[in-house]
Amino acid sequence: MKQYDDLEKILISEEEIRTRVAELGRAITEDYRNAPEPIVLVCILKGSVVFYTDLMRQIDHDCRLDFMIVKSYGGGTESSGNVRFVKDLDDSITGKHAIIVEDIVDSGLTLTFLRKNLITRGAKTLKICTLLDKPMRRSPKSEISVDYCGFKIPNEFVVGYGLDFDEKYRNLPEVGVLKPEVYKNV
Ligand code: PRP
Repeated sequence: MKQYDDLEKILISEEEIRTRVAELGRAITEDYRNAPEPIVLVCILKGSVVFYTDLMRQIDHDCRLDFMIVKSYGGGTESSGNVRFVKDLDDSITGKHAIIVEDIVDSGLTLTFLRKNLITRGAKTLKICTLLDKPMRRSPKSEISVDYCGFKIPNEFVVGYGLDFDEKYRNLPEVGVLKPEVYKNV
């Protein structure tokens, strides 16, 4: 792919992602084994879409799909924690088991907001599943803990497998580190 020219390196290969996503699916299946109710998988678009579609197929439980689009505003290039809903869930999650599925947790402020919001709506249980976690970047204002994490990664600019820079690279099958000159030139 032409887009590989913009990468400094591949950080996580397709094979590593596949193996880890299967492990996460097994862990979720096991944790909800005794729950008679379905799990609502809440996809936070757009970044998590690739992870979400792979993960759901590794969960051996009745799953329901729902989608949200949120935008963080007022914080420049970094998340501010002030979150605006562009698209809300289609269905009520009151009394349901929900898992928020994210591609990456950075400051943690988006999820701090979303978690509070979904708890207010009366979710029976609420967990957080992320493919990538950058613990070094966590804001002191973050109030979340990640229940399921694919990979803890260093503070590098990662793209691919759903993650973008300027809406590009989402379709790369791996997670790669972007060359600094690519994002510094914009
Ligand atoms: C990313 C990611 C999270 C958020 C994490 O979304 O999907 O929602 O940022 O950042 P935080 O932990 O600092 O709050 P982004 O705004 O890039 O939108 P996208 O998913 O459409 O790419």
